[in-house]
Amino acid sequence: MSYKPFVRAKTTESIAVYPGTFDPITMGHLDIVNRALHIFDRVIVALAVNVEKKPLFSVEERVEMIRACFKPDDPVEVDVVDGLLVDYTYTRGAKAIIRGLRAVSDFDYEFQLALMNRRIEREVETVFLMTGFRWIYISSSIIKDAARHGGDVSGLVPDHVCERLRERFLKG
Ligand code: COA
Repeated sequence: MSYKPFVRAKTTESIAVYPGTFDPITMGHLDIVNRALHIFDRVIVALAVNVEKKPLFSVEERVEMIRACFKPDDPVEVDVVDGLLVDYTYTRGAKAIIRGLRAVSDFDYEFQLALMNRRIEREVETVFLMTGFRWIYISSSIIKDAARHGGDVSGLVPDHVCERLRERFLKG
């Protein structure tokens, strides 16, 4: 018998957790949230604290930017995960982790992540969704790089994120 130190929240809703660094959130990420909402009742956008990345925006700033993308009655919650993602997903009573796939190059890493997560927690599935064609070439890094050098990133990130990037790089 396996030992489970975590208690699973009881819920009748079908919930999915969409994790990421979101530094910052892009239209590609929002496209995945919208697609996930066609399948699940509720999506938790989970900002994962990734010690290997040096984010431009603080956790608080990123959470604020993500929250500003949604209306109060949208079935979307924003939270911070500082620990194992599968433990978080399990305790929240969520059925699945959502990951977006943009190109074949995403697959190796995503496959590894999904298998490791399944090894740790078999009751949580990973669901891959194809990112909309319009967003397959963007990532948070490429958007930051373009913005840092004065490139126009409007339309690739929500307007309030565009504004934050402009402010950040103007300040230097
Ligand atoms: N549109 C645009 N960009 C997208 C995208 C989409 N649909 N999907 C992914 N990306 C980009 C992101 O912008 C990000 O770009 P960047 O590297 O330039 O910042 C990149 O793809 C990576 O995506 P992200 O979703 O942020 O993943 P990540 O690799 O930073 O984080 C976690 C992966 C959070 C899922 C992983 O680190 C994790 O699970 N952490 C919790 C701790 C844990 O459980 N670890 C054990 C895992 S086995």
